[in-house]
Amino acid sequence: MSAYLESNYRKITTHVLNGMKHRGEKISMLTAYDYSMATLLDSAGIDVILVGDSASNVMAGHKTTLPITLDQMIYHASSVMRGVERALVVVDLPFGTYQGNSKEALHSSIRIMKESGANAIKMEGGEEILESINRILSAGIPVMGHLGLTPQSIHKFGTYVVRAKEDAEAEQLISDAIKLEKAGCFALVLEKIPAELAKKVQSMLKIPVIGIGAGMHVDGQVLVLHDMLGITQKFSPRFLRRYHNLSEEIKGSVQAYIKDVKTGDFPNEREQY
Ligand code: KIV
Repeated sequence: MSAYLESNYRKITTHVLNGMKHRGEKISMLTAYDYSMATLLDSAGIDVILVGDSASNVMAGHKTTLPITLDQMIYHASSVMRGVERALVVVDLPFGTYQGNSKEALHSSIRIMKESGANAIKMEGGEEILESINRILSAGIPVMGHLGLTPQSIHKFGTYVVRAKEDAEAEQLISDAIKLEKAGCFALVLEKIPAELAKKVQSMLKIPVIGIGAGMHVDGQVLVLHDMLGITQKFSPRFLRRYHNLSEEIKGSVQAYIKDVKTGDFPNEREQY
């Protein structure tokens, strides 16, 4: 077995992730939204699967993550859960199901946990959502935080550029990260912030810090599956490493199928009853 896979955990839990941080083992995390992909990711050995609200973009074709509903997230999460044996599955609380109302936040989280069987939830924001985080944690539901670029607030920011480059925003992010850890979040996602700031947060916190566009000095990395496989084509930020050009492969296969059907080559004698 390769060195990076030596720690052969049978089931990834929040406790295992914490141990990985303290042993300096990097955490791998990818998004998935359906059974077939979740099965592949899990059997490949991914540590954490995020049922991200990026489903709103890559599955449903919306421009932002705002339109996806709680019912739709539960549908994606329960499909993923049927394909996973080992990975920890975290589900995004979608926009409008927790902001400004901690009772609704708890209700939404309980629905996700009960109806999908997922292991944890993730929510975007700092001190402004602490009341919700405390209430959810009090019900025994593990919470992953998310700071930096928070796509559910796109209409407030107006753009997807790198966050927290200025001192004031960086200080606010550090203070939020400390508050989220103190509240009891088991991990934190940092999205699209300067690598030096992410490094600082990583060294200050005891909980794992997972980056997306936050550089190399964090405890783990997350990417959107459709971006890293090259299924999406238009989205190509600097932080995205594409491991495949699946859109071209899929188009090529579909074109070959169309040709075989049109020319009568498919099916042949061995492909019929
Ligand atoms: O929804 C999502 O995919 C995410 C990741 C980008 C971290 O929140």
